[in-house]
Amino acid sequence: MTRIILVGYMGSGKTTVGRQLAMALGVSFYDLDWYIEMRYRRSVAQIFRESGEDGFRQLEHNMLHEVAEFENVVLSCGGGTPCYFDNMQYMNSLSETVYLKASPEVLAAHLKMARVERPLIKNKNGEDLLEYIRESLTQREPFYMQAKHVLNVDLLDNYEKIAITIDLLRKELGM
Ligand code: S3P
Repeated sequence: MTRIILVGYMGSGKTTVGRQLAMALGVSFYDLDWYIEMRYRRSVAQIFRESGEDGFRQLEHNMLHEVAEFENVVLSCGGGTPCYFDNMQYMNSLSETVYLKASPEVLAAHLKMARVERPLIKNKNGEDLLEYIRESLTQREPFYMQAKHVLNVDLLDNYEKIAITIDLLRKELGM
């Protein structure tokens, strides 16, 4: 039985790597944000607006418990998932977990293009965005570092490199 959960900051490539890894291993791929959106028929941004961040974290926690028990899956979770409740401990108890680790500069470059649908950073740009990432990454990294595996993905910026990353990840996981 294969069950792998990818954790890491927004923009670290969890969805891209997760989808490719699932394909390479011949298992299903789930993205926790998409799963939440499908189950509640509301976008993550809408949930933040209507229920606040606390409301979102509660739904995220509940939905994690629903998907994390599926078998033969790769799951990418949200950037904040490991940092609330006992979510990280729970994921470690039933799965291989991998932290996709990237520097604040690389994350900022990825996120510049995709801020709009992410409520926590939608109004941040340039130095503000970088500063926010630096600060919140410092708070979040102790949670991410509890993952069973850590993979540096700073170089992950084209398809060839994604393929190399998947190979490295499979070696690390022995799969
Ligand atoms: C969040 C990350 C997002 C999403 C929500 C909150 C966070 O997921 O869950 O906007 O707290 O870092 P991605 O990491 O997939 O962008």
